[in-house]
Formats: sequence, C-alpha cells, structure tokens
Amino acid sequence: MSQAPADFLAPMQQLAREAGGLLMSFFGKVAIEYKGEADLVTKADRASEKLIVEAIRKQWPDHDLVGEEGSRTETGSDYRWYIDPLDGTTNFAHGYPVFCVSLGLEFRGELFAGVIYDPTRDEMFCAAKGAGARMNNHQIHVSQTPLLKESLIATGFPSRKRHQNPNINFYHQLTLRSHGVRRAGSAALDLCYVACGRYDAFWEFNLNSWDTAAGVLIAQEAGGKVTNFSNGPFTIDSAQVMASNGLLHDELLKEFAAIFAGRVEGLPTAEEYLKSR
Ligand code: IPD
Ligand code: CA
Ligand code: CA
Repeated sequence: MSQAPADFLAPMQQLAREAGGLLMSFFGKVAIEYKGEADLVTKADRASEKLIVEAIRKQWPDHDLVGEEGSRTETGSDYRWYIDPLDGTTNFAHGYPVFCVSLGLEFRGELFAGVIYDPTRDEMFCAAKGAGARMNNHQIHVSQTPLLKESLIATGFPSRKRHQNPNINFYHQLTLRSHGVRRAGSAALDLCYVACGRYDAFWEFNLNSWDTAAGVLIAQEAGGKVTNFSNGPFTIDSAQVMASNGLLHDELLKEFAAIFAGRVEGLPTAEEYLKSR
C-alpha cells in the first residue's frame, strides 16, 4: 500500500537534521577540491550524501534515488529521491554561512514531499503534496508583493558552463526593475525564501533535479507559481526555473521575453560613468 506524502516528513526532517549536523561538524575545516574549473566539492558533500543514502537504503530499500555526488539506485520504483547533500558548496567551502541539505521525493513522477534544512539558522522547511508548506512547524506563504518594481528577487549562476551563461544580462535588467536581485549561492534556499516571502521571485538557468525537487514543491505548496521561462510547466528535468509569488509572474515573464528578444537597457562605459559623478 502506498503511503501519504505527509507520512514521509518526520523521517525526512530527521535525516536532513542529521546531515545538517554533520555539515556543521566540517564547517570551516575542509579543504576545497575541484570537480571542474570553478565547480567545488568537499569531504562534507560526500560524507553527507553517504549518511543520507545509507539511511534511505536501510529504511526504504525498494526506493530509487539520485544524489549529486554520484549515488544512484534505478529499479523502476514508484518512489524516487533527489538528494543534494550540501546545496551551497562554494559558500560552505569559503566559510560563508548560506547552505543547506535538500531532500526531494517523487511518487510516480510527481513531486510528493520535500525537506530543506539550513543548519546555520536551524530553519527546517518542508512540504507534502496537497498539505501546504511549513518552516519550523509554522505554515508559510509566499509574499503579497504585486509589482516587480516593489520586489526583492534572487537568482544564481551555476559554475558549469559559466562562460556561456547569459544570466548576467537578466541580472542587470532585473536589477533596474526591482528593489534588487540577490545571489546568495544556494538555489534550494532561494526557493524556500520565495516560499516564506523573503523573496518575491527567483530564477536560474541550468539547475539540476537535486537542486530543485524539494524547493519547487515547497514554493508551490506555499502558494507560489513555478514555471519555465516561457510559462510552460516546471518538470523535474526543466533546467530553467522561475518561481514567484504568482502575482508578479506574468510581469517577470514579459521582462524575460523582452530580454530574449534583445530589448535591453544598455550601460555607459566605466569611464563615462566615473566622469558622470
Ligand atoms: C549550486 C547552488 C547555487 C546555484 C548553482 C548550484 P551546489 O549547487 O545551488 O546557488 O547557483 O547552480 O549548482 O553545487 O552548491 O550544490
Ligand atoms: Ca545544488
Ligand atoms: Ca550540492
């Protein structure tokens, strides 16, 4: 018999808290290793994934899973876990306290339950399909900000293929149309911050399933809207993610369409700007 999504939340939270505790035991003490030119990894990423994967395999031996650091179980199970054992590795590796553990669970191809734990603030975000979203056991809801020009929004820049990423243009244009664009370095927490109203929207190019699975469900269950950049439905393999409070989604999409079409405000040269003061 299949279980209700909410039945998973207590064990998922316990697991995320244990993994978060393990991350804190390494924080400030780990050496940086490289997966790519600027793609970092540490002992803590691997230790956290090992802890999580061993616990899932013990408790739910018939579930499939995918972990960022290489863990895979593929049996065709109805259940599939998406594990980011440390989201915000670059921050973590530099001692910047913005990172989390993210556990997303899918049932028959649909997001079902998600837990994200920030051990530096002891903030536990979670959501079960159809049951709303919570932070430390309080119901959370997206903001009510109606307009982009009154919003605080966020984005991120993946380290892979960074030379080809056009996001800096979007960052620039949206900075000019909002109260500001934050780039804190943890996509999973960015989605939670949309869910609890600290941000009004978040977007990023080229995210992976382990970055988004839990956070997208938490944002949706908090009343948010999540799509791709052309207002199509978000799917777990959508590399594009746009999450918002719903109210300013259309306005954001319009800005994206304009930027894709090349209608952008230019910049003076640095020299011109310096002279203008
Ligand atoms: C990264 C973070 C970052 C985002 C990158 C992700 P990682 O995940 O979420 O905010 O901009 O796209 O890859 O590598 O720290 O788990
Ligand atoms: Ca990640
Ligand atoms: Ca990671």
